[in-house]
Amino acid sequence: MSTPTTTAIVLAAGQGTRMRSTLPKVMHEICGLPLVHYGVQAALDAGCRDVVVVVGHGRERVEPYLERAFDGRPVRTAVQHVQRGTGDAARAGLAVIGPLAERVLIMNGDVPLVRAQDLRAVCAPLEAPSMPAALAVATCVVDEPTGYGRILRRGAHVVEIREHRDLQTDDERAVREINAGFYAASAALFRDALATLGPNNAQGEVYLTDVVAFVARQGGRIEAVLLGADVLAGVNDREQLAGVSASLHARLVRKWRLEGATISDGASVDALVILAPDATVEHGAALRGTTRVERGATVGVGCVLTNVAVGEGAVIKPYTVATDARIGPHAQIGPFAHLRPESNVGEDAHVGNFVELKKTTMARGAKANHLAYLGDGVIGEGANIGAGTIFCNYDGVEKHTTTIGAGAFIGSDSQLVAPVTVGANAYVGTGTTVTRDVPADALAIGRAKQENKEGYAPRLRARLRAAKDAREKKK
Ligand code: UD1
Ligand code: CA
Repeated sequence: MSTPTTTAIVLAAGQGTRMRSTLPKVMHEICGLPLVHYGVQAALDAGCRDVVVVVGHGRERVEPYLERAFDGRPVRTAVQHVQRGTGDAARAGLAVIGPLAERVLIMNGDVPLVRAQDLRAVCAPLEAPSMPAALAVATCVVDEPTGYGRILRRGAHVVEIREHRDLQTDDERAVREINAGFYAASAALFRDALATLGPNNAQGEVYLTDVVAFVARQGGRIEAVLLGADVLAGVNDREQLAGVSASLHARLVRKWRLEGATISDGASVDALVILAPDATVEHGAALRGTTRVERGATVGVGCVLTNVAVGEGAVIKPYTVATDARIGPHAQIGPFAHLRPESNVGEDAHVGNFVELKKTTMARGAKANHLAYLGDGVIGEGANIGAGTIFCNYDGVEKHTTTIGAGAFIGSDSQLVAPVTVGANAYVGTGTTVTRDVPADALAIGRAKQENKEGYAPRLRARLRAAKDAREKKK
């Protein structure tokens, strides 16, 4: 018998009132990705052929995110227009899945630590060779069950999930086995059960959890799949968001350390970051987005790198900020450098302190070691850019390109008024404002001639002192 394909329905339409936020709960970020991302990714990783995300509150933000993040993957949305409870949300999801969908895994969208293996474990009892279950639910045992739905059993058999507000006795309240919010069954079973449900509970909502009592009444076998409380923690408020973020971060850091990266405590590494063996990330560094650090490269204290490719053996010295940039192998950046979007620093190139690049390419071995603004530039191999150099790229209306040839030398405190080109191996004298192209091998120099007046300094000083004395006498 072939294993039926599984469709996941991720419930993500709730407002998340307890977050006290204008942002929908599932768009709050954990390690750089919105909450909703994690459940969807876990469902795909677990082999679900189709993932339907039920959206509602704030869907104008959730839907575009899902489209972007899961482009080309089998992820769709269903809309729950009014949030009438998890049972109603599940119905909205079931309404859009295809008639061929056999098995359905319904999952809360606010449980980001869940992994593919946990989801597979929830589905497994449906395939048990001797006695397949009709319905499987993920449970865990927690020290503090307040607020969760409790797993109620008669003898060994699960008969009901009762929400915290609907508990009646102290015995029920003392139950520490709770519902984690993951349910697997056939699409037909969910459809039949949900058709019978109404809002007969303390919150006046349609509870998905009532499917359990429905199946128990019909004599169907219900399997509780006990999983670790650490992977099933839900996010309802900001305190839980912080707790779950810390757990996920610890999981990510541990993974990269075991793969050979050195990561100091206090560094932060987002979910999509990739670290090669022998990469080093020092404390206070924040690696965000799709940043990738190759073998032997070092990201120093306090650096903030967002979507940056760091080449093998490159050294990013402390407090460098870089966004959407590429740093070549063995390049040296910082301290205190700023690489803005579309900066591309070549192999062995140097970008020193207080140097800002924007949409600028530096070829192999080029250097800009101190205090410069290099915007919209193309800098050739081995060129040297002196301290205080400015690429004047903006005329108030448009941006223009400054091109510096290979081996050229730009003296300190020069301005290059773009569009302008300095040829290969040319020399620009210190303090020059370059407004015309400089041919290869030429020297460009444009500054007022210096005049020395012999013996003038003592006279100047005497005059200044006399003026000061005269002013003070008047007071
Ligand atoms: C739910 C369970 C509870 C379980 C807990 C585990 C129910 C009735 N209760 O409670 O037994 O212990 O999860 O974390 O299911 N949602 C919608 N539409 C709605 C309401 C909710 O899409 O109308 C979504 C939310 O966005 C959320 C998920 O369903 O992702 C769970 O809803 P939430 O309100 O957080 O349920 P809990 O009170 O945590
Ligand atoms: Ca919840």
